[in-house]
Amino acid sequence: MNQDERKQAVAQAALRHVVAGAVIGVGTGSTVDHFIDALAGMRERVRAAVSSSQRSTERLRARGIEVLDLNDVESVPVYVDGADEIDPAGAMIKGGGGALTREKILAEAAGRFVCIVDSSKLVPVLGHFPLPVEVVPMARELVRRRLLELGGQPRLREGFVTDNGNQILDVGGLRIEHPAELEGRLNQIPGVVTVGLFARRGADLALVGGADGVSERVYD
Ligand code: A5P
Repeated sequence: MNQDERKQAVAQAALRHVVAGAVIGVGTGSTVDHFIDALAGMRERVRAAVSSSQRSTERLRARGIEVLDLNDVESVPVYVDGADEIDPAGAMIKGGGGALTREKILAEAAGRFVCIVDSSKLVPVLGHFPLPVEVVPMARELVRRRLLELGGQPRLREGFVTDNGNQILDVGGLRIEHPAELEGRLNQIPGVVTVGLFARRGADLALVGGADGVSERVYD
């Protein structure tokens, strides 16, 4: 199986975790695109979706799945999303697609985070993938200096504006041994909207697409 076929396989496997009659949380990215396509096949069993990006919202609606405002929803039992990296404890780097803020909100709102990845996303330690940090534009240079002091190498994602009207710094050069601690620290910098570290609220379950098919990893 090539990488795209692995993504399709995990997207299909995630359907088993969709709660019938409930609102499903939907992330963003190429793996989630496959999940949305698969979800369309069971849309009559899905009450509606809440979505982490304009991109996913458009795809869901185009496939006949209603998208609700999170403020109008009482419970989201399951959130399905991809990741850029996931470590052995289920902590993740996310935000490669720039949707990290709404992804983090939905992850927090959800009862269960089901992460769908191909095996290339499994890492022993987070940080090889540059860590996305969404910043309020006026604070960009301030945040950049703070990130440099912490040993990172921040680069502005050129020509990119998030769904919230902000910018993204992609921070290279980090080896993230203690992701929850770093997440908390970066959250404290004024001007930081969201850190693409999902450690304080990591995945509950990962579906991993590998050469031999889909395997499951459950996290505490
Ligand atoms: C979107 O902002 C990201 O958090 C995605 O979840 C992540 O980039 C995974 O995307 P792919 O499924 O395209 O690899």
